[in-house]
Amino acid sequence: MSTSTERPLIKIIIGSVRPVRVGDQLAAALAPVLAEASGSKVEIIDLAELALPMLDEPLMPAMGNCQKPHTIAWSKMVKESDAVVFLTPQYNGGYPAALKNAVDYLYHEWSSKPSLIVSYGGHGGSQSGAQLRSVLEFVGLDLVADNVELTLPRDSYGADWRLTDAGPIIASHGTEIRAAAEALGARLRSKAEESVAAGA
Ligand SMILES: Cc1cc2nc3c(=O)[nH]c(=O)nc-3n(C[C@H](O)[C@H](O)[C@H](O)COP(=O)(O)O)c2cc1C
Repeated sequence: MSTSTERPLIKIIIGSVRPVRVGDQLAAALAPVLAEASGSKVEIIDLAELALPMLDEPLMPAMGNCQKPHTIAWSKMVKESDAVVFLTPQYNGGYPAALKNAVDYLYHEWSSKPSLIVSYGGHGGSQSGAQLRSVLEFVGLDLVADNVELTLPRDSYGADWRLTDAGPIIASHGTEIRAAAEALGARLRSKAEESVAAGA
């Protein structure tokens, strides 16, 4: 967590772990817009790099007794953020199993964490975003009201199935992204004021 004199730290969680994917490109293009509109620092967490196995903790994460080094590393990444942005593709009307697995590894870390969902797909990934919202509300994240939905036209992909340029996609959703980032920034400022008032 940042101190009260620093800019808050938002971490973008890339929800896709496929070897050929576009989530990393979207995260890189999204980061500066998010940083500017929210008044925060932005870092990226890549679940592909983290490479969590399927949940292998012997006890329920809600019991707060994680043991595995990968769980401890993942927990630290989330605890060190002031807010998180879940960047999720849509797969078959839902969000990726790897992202659900990553969410399920933790519990208390998510509690009241300011957060935003950014979904993407051929039509914006709205079903993915809606399903993820239901789960994140269940585990107690403090989500800003509206998801951002990025539409990826077929012609934005090259022959290698990577985006030829993620910039225009982010630019074409600039209004929604900035509104959501401003809402997240406002939430972070009000939490910082509350902790100063509480003497934390
Ligand atoms: C398993 C799978 C299922 C998909 N299902 C949908 C879908 O339901 N709706 C949609 O708009 N796009 C769907 N797509 C297309 C993805 O939105 C697109 O491939 C996107 O690039 C995936 O994100 P990623 O490349 O970061 O993994 C699907 C892609 C995959 C791999």
